[in-house]
Amino acid sequence: MTRRTRIAVKVAVWTACLTPLALLGWRAVSDDLTANPIDFITDWLGRWTMRLLLASLALTPVRILTGWGWPIAFRRLLGLFAFFHGTLHFGVWIVVDHYFAWARMGEDILKRPYITVGVTALVLMVPLALTSTAGMIRRLGGRNWNRLHRLVYVTAVLAVLHFMWLAKTGRIEQYLYALIVAVVLGVRVAAAARRMVARSSPRGPRTGPPDPRTLGEVEGTSASPRTRGAPRAID
Ligand code: HEM
Repeated sequence: MTRRTRIAVKVAVWTACLTPLALLGWRAVSDDLTANPIDFITDWLGRWTMRLLLASLALTPVRILTGWGWPIAFRRLLGLFAFFHGTLHFGVWIVVDHYFAWARMGEDILKRPYITVGVTALVLMVPLALTSTAGMIRRLGGRNWNRLHRLVYVTAVLAVLHFMWLAKTGRIEQYLYALIVAVVLGVRVAAAARRMVARSSPRGPRTGPPDPRTLGEVEGTSASPRTRGAPRAID
């Protein structure tokens, strides 16, 4: 990919990630937040958390299936935007829904399963966001970093559960997200199984460069063995 195309794609991804908030802002100033603005804002931010999370997760299967390495560079950015929207979604719940009534919030977290899984999903994103810098990737080493970042799959499953639990009857969006998570996980598991079979074949592990379509997380590998396997990000 040329430098110019890379910059154009980067601008497009940043624009796409900022559009949901811009649209929400536009609806707010146009007094177009429906009869129940709090619910509308909460749902909007929750949905975009989900979509951005799934978009970041989908990049690895895209690479496995197509062999294209470049989209993976946007995974960290999409993940951070998902976390940002999730934090705002949580913020609305803390500030607007409960107005810092910590005891009531604690009760809600314990008593309502959809809140319990929502909070767990968001809390699990915190270490991922904190370790998303190049310095942290170097410090942890690629292998450990990849292991830690598999938590994102737990987050995705919990986020889907959260949505399924509270979605109104008659809607199908939540099943679509569940299907996407299942496909993403399925592709990853199949790629891992293929690697295991290749390793245990009588001809022994393959030598030579790895096939990018069978690899899970190894992308943008660095020359350093400590960071081998860690993603190179564009932000
Ligand atoms: C990764 C984290 C999370 C994701 C992906 C997520 C996703 C969603 C989605 C998609 C909706 C929209 C449901 C709809 O349109 O019917 C929603 C609604 C909601 N979420 Fe979350 N959520 C997350 C975390 C949280 C947290 C931490 C809380 C608060 C403790 C929370 C509380 C709520 C509430 C109160 C609603 C609105 C329910 C209603 O409409 O009455 N969520 N969430």
